[in-house]
Amino acid sequence: MTVTAAEIRAFGNVPEHVAIIMDGNGRWARERGQPRVFGHQQGMQAVKRSVEAAGELGVSVLSLYAFSQENWSRPRGEIDALMELLSRYIQSERRELVERGVRVRVMGQLERLTPVARAALSRLLRDTQDGHGLILNLAISYGGRWEILEACRRLARRAAAGELEPESIDEERFAAALGTAGLPDPDLLIRTSGEFRVSNFLLWQIAYTEIHVTEVLWPDFGAEDFFEAVYDFQRRERRFGKVPF
Ligand code: FPP
Repeated sequence: MTVTAAEIRAFGNVPEHVAIIMDGNGRWARERGQPRVFGHQQGMQAVKRSVEAAGELGVSVLSLYAFSQENWSRPRGEIDALMELLSRYIQSERRELVERGVRVRVMGQLERLTPVARAALSRLLRDTQDGHGLILNLAISYGGRWEILEACRRLARRAAAGELEPESIDEERFAAALGTAGLPDPDLLIRTSGEFRVSNFLLWQIAYTEIHVTEVLWPDFGAEDFFEAVYDFQRRERRFGKVPF
């Protein structure tokens, strides 16, 4: 199926927030007899393509699961390579992201990152802070349960200090204590490589999110695959637990 950005925009109902679990880098590399890191390197190109595709469709927020807390238990060499790739991505893409008006946000336990990766990220956040286009929300050293616990701790501290009435904690206030504060919940979650799992990504936020799973491995994921996922989303009936009429 080939669908163009113009067709998708003309249909209307473009998702405001798209989240992606980028999976399959290792398998992609193995199929080619290459080390896993080779798959991650190619995966970086797919990140670039998705940022462009999201921009073309007028999506407001793109959340990418770049590194999970579980990923810390991978071999040291792979972790180091991923950290380096992140810094490299930032170095090579910073100017273009700024030119495209992209505003980068990041969520996760950043104190676990290497100092080099942390420094590159803070510079990227600073350089893109005035962007008025796509919000690129990177989940790095991130886990959904960790994020929910962090929000609980933050609210509990305020309650203990007498600044917050426990009874006043509603969904809105809770959401404002999460890493996605101020962002709409994802409308569409894409997972590549054919796995039907959410893998601890945005657990609170995906309560009513439509899920699109594709067999395509992340390094092969291109603009057409992004458009196809949105095309699929546009034809879903979203009921949010209510009856249709
Ligand atoms: C999953 O594939 C992918 C990751 C754990 C890392 C994703 C990282 C990138 C795409 C590159 C850098 C990211 C940014 C934002 C610049 P896997 O290794 O779990 O694949 P497998 O399931 O086939 O083993």
